[in-house]
Amino acid sequence: MTRKIAAAIALCALAVVVSARVSAQSAGGRAPAATPTFSKDVAPILYKNCTNCHRPGEVAPMSLLTFKDARPWVKSISTRISAGTMPPWHADPAHGEFLNDRRLSDRDKATILAWANGGAPEGNPSDLPAAPTYVTEWLMGQPDAIFSMPEDYPIPATGEIPYEYFEIPTNLTEDKWVQSLEVRAGDPAVLHHVIVYARTPAMEAAMKTAAAAMLTGARPNGAQDRPRPTPPFSLPEEMTKIPAGQTGGRPLPPDQRKPLGPNDRPAPRAMGPMLGGFAPGQFVRTYQDGTAIKLAAGTTLIFQMHYTATGKATKDRTRIAVKYAPRAPQTEVRLASFINGSLHIPAGDPNYRVDSELTINQPMTLWSLLPHTHVRGKRWEYTVTYPDGRSDIVLSVPHYDFNWQTDYIFKQPLKLPAGSKLHATAWYDNSPANKSNPDPKKDVWWGDQTWEEMMFTSMIFSLDGAQTPPTAGQEK
Ligand code: HEC
Repeated sequence: MTRKIAAAIALCALAVVVSARVSAQSAGGRAPAATPTFSKDVAPILYKNCTNCHRPGEVAPMSLLTFKDARPWVKSISTRISAGTMPPWHADPAHGEFLNDRRLSDRDKATILAWANGGAPEGNPSDLPAAPTYVTEWLMGQPDAIFSMPEDYPIPATGEIPYEYFEIPTNLTEDKWVQSLEVRAGDPAVLHHVIVYARTPAMEAAMKTAAAAMLTGARPNGAQDRPRPTPPFSLPEEMTKIPAGQTGGRPLPPDQRKPLGPNDRPAPRAMGPMLGGFAPGQFVRTYQDGTAIKLAAGTTLIFQMHYTATGKATKDRTRIAVKYAPRAPQTEVRLASFINGSLHIPAGDPNYRVDSELTINQPMTLWSLLPHTHVRGKRWEYTVTYPDGRSDIVLSVPHYDFNWQTDYIFKQPLKLPAGSKLHATAWYDNSPANKSNPDPKKDVWWGDQTWEEMMFTSMIFSLDGAQTPPTAGQEK
């Protein structure tokens, strides 16, 4: 080979490298100089960020496990990655950092886009890293325990289904600490939410004593003289009001109550604190190392099931799986919720605002926040105001999506001294412009059905310092 030819080849090679670099840069960010290949560059990104949803039998519509699976979707992948709508994530990065942030790094985005723009080559299959293995149907891996609804519950094709309640004894003979929890719907299509409550034997005993005391008029051990302990946090009285007949509200007068249907499973008299739950868009909830939720020996789990009829009769038997912490954690975390039950959203209003505010009475640590509205909800924002007057937006969800409800887990859990306020604001679009709006001509009040509304936040918190019995939605 003459020098001249060799030099020309070298130049050509350089030109290829340069043009690849230009196209990668025009795709918006730094990326490897040569066109990335599926086997070497893209598969590791998909395995890490996509395939827990994008694999057979999971929530996403297609698998992205192999080149053959992914190739037909290249255009759509490129569109979704550029727009930032995949992987799904709805918090504004300007406010706070979250452990469960699913967004891709700029580098990974640039790699996928350079691959897509460069003809989406497979590359050398021997470059493929080991594919992730999914050993069980549970995303958490092998669970320590599975608790299942006791029956295949029939869901009618149409009509309004009230909350249904199922009791599942844990048969635990010793206290356990829940490290992660995952809910599997029997039929995800009909499931609006599950809340799992944990009723301890101590609560059952207290219930019996209270019932006996009501009958006899007796009060246990001078209970009337003891001042009630201050709850760890409190909500203005008017926000706790939920209209009569709605879940959590006052009961309707007997003559207005709906008769129980043959399939209705009404709420038991005592529920206990919440252990966990599920709403569309949620997967495994794992509590940070050193934190866990207590599951006391002898606890009975109560599943509050909210089903929505879809036009097709079906059955559901939902299960939850848990992994236990190996030992009692340093910090006991608890789940609580707060609301504004007095909301009233006028018909047609495109931007109706509802506020709620917790006053923190005892120093606590806030680990996560989960905003929940129904299909008219469009935006959420949470602000903490500290006792010294400083205030911070701790979470902003500019485009709330009912199908992607997320427990936003703070990278740095928030220390809230006594006297802090946690202020939540939700905005609703009750206009025809909201494509999910079931009826823009209706005023909307609090209600459990998807065509009604809520202003509901659940949160994971722990009490700092001396632990006192929790109240305010955490009754033991
Ligand atoms: C948490 C679960 C989840 C993760 C993680 C996830 N996806 Fe998705 N993806 C979905 C679901 C569910 C849909 C269907 C609903 C929708 O389109 O939003 C979807 C839809 C898509 C679509 C649109 C398909 C079409 O119909 O054109 C693309 C493309 C996509 N995902 C690519 C990705 C890529 C690439 C990643 C990783 C970088 C990823 N997704 C991560 C759940 C997920």
